[in-house]
Amino acid sequence: MTDHLIQLKDLKKVFYTDEIETHALSEINLDIVSGEYVSIAGPSGCGKSTLLSLIGLLDVASTGNYRFKDQDVSAIARNERARIRNREIGFIFQSFNLISDLTVAENVELPLTYRNELTKLVRKQWVDEALGKLNMSHRARHFPSQLSGGQQQRVAIARAIAGKPSILLADEPTGNLDSRNAEAVMDILDSLHEQGATICMVTHDPRSSRRASRVVEIFDGRIVADNRISAGEKAA
Ligand SMILES: Nc1ncnc2c1ncn2[C@@H]1O[C@H](COP(=O)(O)OP(=O)(O)O)[C@@H](O)[C@H]1O
Ligand SMILES: [Mg+2]
Repeated sequence: MTDHLIQLKDLKKVFYTDEIETHALSEINLDIVSGEYVSIAGPSGCGKSTLLSLIGLLDVASTGNYRFKDQDVSAIARNERARIRNREIGFIFQSFNLISDLTVAENVELPLTYRNELTKLVRKQWVDEALGKLNMSHRARHFPSQLSGGQQQRVAIARAIAGKPSILLADEPTGNLDSRNAEAVMDILDSLHEQGATICMVTHDPRSSRRASRVVEIFDGRIVADNRISAGEKAA
């Protein structure tokens, strides 16, 4: 056993569309240990979302090796990948991705309903706990359209943490928010990290990036820098 949560070795991702080959990622070597808050930074199109999809088991690499919690997940079956993803990984997206005809509580509960080991009672407790942490309990019976963008993203974060995942993956989580709501979301991620969450966040905003304890910079599908940030250097 190591304390490594994520171990990527020589990962490469090539997309083939029509006659075009896009080398989205090359020679990616990256380890993430439990409790880290890693920011993935770099210009648009450099491969950030592709990397997050690979880490989140939403997609598979063309070549290379991926170990998640010391298990080789490079070539496991699709249903096993989905099972690990559902239990171990919480996703937060730029566009919130809430389901409009489900209430706030139903949205947060949805990923838990695919886990047979969770009773209805446990699901309800975990939903209440997550909504409480995000100060959204009073909106449990509302629908997404009745909420502001900032509130919708808080619901999406509640959904991501409700299942007690090993890692939270956030792709430009503040991209659709005004600066005040963006700050609030960054504060929430800080506080989740302080409470022990492991976070990997993609952003092209250097200010958000400096909230993390480590910044991995990508350029043209390759890691070009990987720096730990001391408390003194962090953005307030
Ligand atoms: N599903 C896909 N099919 C083909 N090309 C893709 C696909 N997803 C991403 N790409 C290409 O891979 C490169 C990296 O994209 P992406 O990871 O989305 O970058 P970023 O998130 O940093 O903006 C881009 O050139 C993009 O066009
Ligand atoms: Mg992207």
